[in-house]
Amino acid sequence: MIRLLTIIGARPQIIKAAAISRAIHTHFAGEIEEAILHTGQHYDTNMSAVFFEELGIPQPEYNLHVGSGSHGQQTARIIEGVEQVLQEAQTKDKPFDGMIVYGDTNSTLAASIAAVKIHIPVFHIEAGLRSFNMTMPEEVNRIVCDQLSSILFTPTITGLSNLQNEGFAENGIKSRVRFSGQREQYVVQSGDVMYDNSLYFSQMADEKSDIIERLGLTCRNFILATIHRPANTDNSENLQSIFRALLDIADAEQIDVILPLHPRTRKMLQTQLSAELLMRIDKTPKLKIIEPASFFEIIRLEKNARVVMTDSGGVQKEAFFFQTPCVILRPETEWVEIVDAGAGIIADADYQRIMDAYNALSGKTVAFPPLFGDGHASEKILEEILKYL
Ligand code: UD1
Repeated sequence: MIRLLTIIGARPQIIKAAAISRAIHTHFAGEIEEAILHTGQHYDTNMSAVFFEELGIPQPEYNLHVGSGSHGQQTARIIEGVEQVLQEAQTKDKPFDGMIVYGDTNSTLAASIAAVKIHIPVFHIEAGLRSFNMTMPEEVNRIVCDQLSSILFTPTITGLSNLQNEGFAENGIKSRVRFSGQREQYVVQSGDVMYDNSLYFSQMADEKSDIIERLGLTCRNFILATIHRPANTDNSENLQSIFRALLDIADAEQIDVILPLHPRTRKMLQTQLSAELLMRIDKTPKLKIIEPASFFEIIRLEKNARVVMTDSGGVQKEAFFFQTPCVILRPETEWVEIVDAGAGIIADADYQRIMDAYNALSGKTVAFPPLFGDGHASEKILEEILKYL
């Protein structure tokens, strides 16, 4: 029996982990045993606990409760905590054979550093994505984590070619000698575990969430917006431009704009927005600010929105899975395929570009080619891990 430790910490990782846990229980129960470690990077109920209940993920065996802090603090606390868990497992004669990490958060980076130092192979899911913007903490996290990983599971062809450009090889071709010369490091284009999830949970979300009815929305007649990136929340000019655009669209089109608000953004509103904008938000009932949504709620909103406007990578992709066009509130995206297909437009936090992008996508017919695998990325990933170990 192979023992894997799965690291989660931030909201999207809990969601991604659901796909792998489900595949372990359905297809590999006799071969793989999984333990989950929650770093505690996200801790509010609606940023964490709600997803475990909804997605049926086993409760974490370990929780480091690291909470919020500067990048250095958060990363350091996680390295220390993960190292301790791995070492204790070794001394108790139940060592972990490998570690699964997701995406590009501080939890991903820190856990990978802890594992490689004690020679536990790291399997990185969502490897190879690049924004080529080193001012993003996530870009730093993902580049370092890719360097440390044994198998780099990339969801897309772009991820594969980014990694090949950095000197990694595909599918078991030995590219670098690892761990006292015995291990290899290579890339597998696996497809996207989030696509697995979207297929699996889509119908369940329709049955279990009444958010469309509760908010009085009509199908394809509202906008879903999410904003949480520091480049937007911590920059007054950017945040004001985004809110001005959302308010102007709500007013001009008389369309509902639903904004489930990340706690970071909520904290920043009072300090970053002008008094005039804060008053407009209060006086515009069409702009509906709600608490962070659960996974079923966000799926239903993404499926039924006319347009999604977001600075989140995950929400961009899910909008695409559900054939909803997307205005990208960032200067670039890791999901370039979506833009190439014409289903997403990069508008950054620029008022005029946001307005133009919305007008270009709203109510238009847009193509959504299959770019993210076949819905079986999780099984493929687990088979590769078994082969490797
Ligand atoms: C993190 C990831 C980001 C990912 C996002 C998903 C990093 C560097 N960033 O960003 O890549 O897209 O998760 O949501 O790891 N807060 C709360 N309650 C919580 C969690 C956060 O109030 O449960 C507030 C705190 O003020 C905290 C701030 O949000 O300081 C930011 O949280 P943090 O975990 O540092 O990063 P995210 O912005 O959530």
